Amino acid sequence: MHMSLTLPGSAGMYLLLLMSNLLLWEHVASRPSTSVSTEDLYHRVVEQSHNTYIMAADIYSEFDLNFAKRSWLTDRMPTVCHTASIHTPENREEVHETKTEDLLVSIANITRAWIRPLKYLASEVAALPGASATMLKTANDLKERNADLLVGLKTILGRIKPGFAVNGSPTWSGLKDLKSSDEDTRLFAFYNNLRCLKRDMNKVDSFLKVLRCRVVFNNEC
Ligand SMILES: *[C@@H]1O[C@H](CO)[C@@H](O)[C@H](O)[C@H]1NC(C)=O
Repeated sequence: MHMSLTLPGSAGMYLLLLMSNLLLWEHVASRPSTSVSTEDLYHRVVEQSHNTYIMAADIYSEFDLNFAKRSWLTDRMPTVCHTASIHTPENREEVHETKTEDLLVSIANITRAWIRPLKYLASEVAALPGASATMLKTANDLKERNADLLVGLKTILGRIKPGFAVNGSPTWSGLKDLKSSDEDTRLFAFYNNLRCLKRDMNKVDSFLKVLRCRVVFNNEC
């Protein structure tokens, strides 16, 4: 952990902040009776999901601008997102009819399903010729933030359903295409993953905002 102290300038500072944030979560997660209120937990997960969504939208746009090919529109079918089987409400009404804990479980399920792909997206962006430093940083941040978000969600869920574990997320089998030696296949795999990520993070963020409104503000927002 002291390694971060040797990093130069803002990168080191950022890492330190990130770690203190993670330590905070761990502290909270290991001591459910701690003084952090559920309201504060909701504020934190919403802040995380908001930032995660913004980053997912950013990296998607950057990829779309610099790497996407026109030919995909006619020659290729977009793949089904690996999280498609996770049941989520389809519209506002359905969101409002869904129980808080059920919605939290779905959100945590989606978040967990992205742990592995985000790890590989970050390492493959590092190996992608022409990827900017910003893109690489965003990919790494996304990986950390999503993991952090999952810890926060588990903490809230642990209060509602003690002993609950988020198991059985859908598996992701996109690694082969992401590492393909065929450039078009590889780029198209990136594109689809980033498109799905943006879509899922948008969902997660909007659902969490509805839940915060419900739990913290008594639906008055
Ligand atoms: C997550 O979603 C998958 C796919 O729909 C499902 O099989 C699994 O049971 C879900 N996990 C949880 C914790 O709800």
